[in-house]
Amino acid sequence: MKPFLGRRILVTGAGSGIGRACARRLDALGAELVLAGRRAEALRETLPHAVHAALDHTRDEAVLAFARDCPPLDGMVLAAGSLLTGGVEGTSTPAFDRMIASNLKGPWLICHHLGGLLKDGASVVLVGSNVGIRAIPDTAAYCVAKAGVHMLAQVLALEWAPRAIRCNAVAPGPVHTAMVDSRLKASADPAAALHALARVNPLRRLGREEEVAALAIHLLGDESRWTTGTVIPIDGGATAVF
Ligand SMILES: NC(=O)c1ccc[n+]([C@@H]2O[C@H](COP(=O)([O-])OP(=O)(O)OC[C@H]3O[C@@H](n4cnc5c(N)ncnc54)[C@H](OP(=O)(O)O)[C@@H]3O)[C@@H](O)[C@H]2O)c1
Repeated sequence: MKPFLGRRILVTGAGSGIGRACARRLDALGAELVLAGRRAEALRETLPHAVHAALDHTRDEAVLAFARDCPPLDGMVLAAGSLLTGGVEGTSTPAFDRMIASNLKGPWLICHHLGGLLKDGASVVLVGSNVGIRAIPDTAAYCVAKAGVHMLAQVLALEWAPRAIRCNAVAPGPVHTAMVDSRLKASADPAAALHALARVNPLRRLGREEEVAALAIHLLGDESRWTTGTVIPIDGGATAVF
């Protein structure tokens, strides 16, 4: 079955991790993909036959230029983002700016400049984080940025509803991608840090890229046609634990 046949979907952050898993699964389901990320080579590795856009989504002019060339879209999965650790007092202003730009300004600019390209009835999925719902120590700017992403999804759900365009956010817990790997490698004992991270949720393991992709694709597709403005945790139950 190819439920996405004839549908054009933009995936950002498609050169690795969750974005790559979304792109490959959507390709298998028949979608026509436009892939964005800063490294063109990584995008080619994801899907050689897709349209590739080497794009820094934090740069207003670059996103505007990309929007000028981009054809109409049936959906978007905005997965590009990055992670820096540090508390409020320990995070430098440039590091704070980078977290807001990479995680919040980027999806904002994509929606700002490409919103007009979305066809009526389209669906957009923003990738937030469960740490945008519940605070964790030592990750302040990232938590704040992801909370903003969740609100962005809700605001867009209201703004786009008259065009029957839906917008939802997924809020994953730790998934073993390059992002988490670099954080683990930076710790004194990576194996112990991995164990501790997995212990946080009732299912006691990290998530898998394809599990997050499955939820994102459900939200993109027709089966979720009455779902908009939601923020859905996908974290092995971590958000349910007080
Ligand atoms: N892994 C987790 O545990 C986890 C948990 C919750 C939420 N998330 C979120 O899930 C999303 C995907 O992360 P991931 O875990 O799959 O990590 P990842 O493998 O590091 O993927 C992040 C992607 O974003 C792209 N990117 C980063 N900055 C960009 C920019 N300025 N412009 C355009 N593209 C940019 C990167 O590609 P280039 O470097 O080529 O640009 C990369 O492909 C992120 O938004 C992350 O915050 C991850």
